[in-house]
Amino acid sequence: SSIKREFIILLMTNLIQDLTHCILRQKTMWGMRILLGVLFRLNKFMTIEALINHAREAQTFSKSPYSNYAVGAALLTSSGEVIYGCNVESKAYPTTLCAERVAIFSAIAQGHDNFTELAIITKDGAAPCGACRQIISEYCENIPVHFANESGEFQTMMMDDLLPLSFRDSQ
Ligand code: THU
Repeated sequence: SSIKREFIILLMTNLIQDLTHCILRQKTMWGMRILLGVLFRLNKFMTIEALINHAREAQTFSKSPYSNYAVGAALLTSSGEVIYGCNVESKAYPTTLCAERVAIFSAIAQGHDNFTELAIITKDGAAPCGACRQIISEYCENIPVHFANESGEFQTMMMDDLLPLSFRDSQ
C-alpha cells in the first residue's frame, strides 16, 4: 500500500506539472480534461486497507451461530463498486454459503461481470476454502486475493497461485 501511496503522489505531482504547462500555454481545455480524467481515476482508486475495512463491515452481517466463525468479503468491480458478502449458515448445515461465494453470486446477480480484487476477513486470517477458490478463479480469474485477520494483518496471493491448473478455460 505504500507503493500505492507513492503512486498517488507521483500522479498528483505529474498532474500539477501538466496543468501548469497547459495553463501557461493557454490550453486550459486540455488541462481541465486531464484534471477530470485523473479525478475520475482517483475516485475509483481503493487501497487494500480500505477494501479490507469493507470486508470488516460485511463480516458484521454474518449469520454464523453454528460455527461462530464470521467471515466477511468485499469484492471490487472494475467499475469501482464494492460488493459485500458474508457467510450465511442454516439449521440444515450443508446449505450454508461462504462469504466469498455470496459476494460473487450477488455481484453477478446485480449485473457485474468484471472484478479486480477481493478481500476476506476472518478471526484467524484464513485463506478461502476449496469450493470458493473454484468460483473465484472461474468468475474473477487471476485477481489478487487479500485475506486478513481481525487485527488487520493480511496476506495477498494471486488467484492462480491459490488454485493452480484451474478448471477454468477447459470444456
Ligand atoms: N466459510 C467462509 O465463509 N469462507 C471460507 O472460505 C471458509 C468457510 C464459512 C462457512 C461456515 O459458515 C464457516 O465459515 C465455518 O466453516
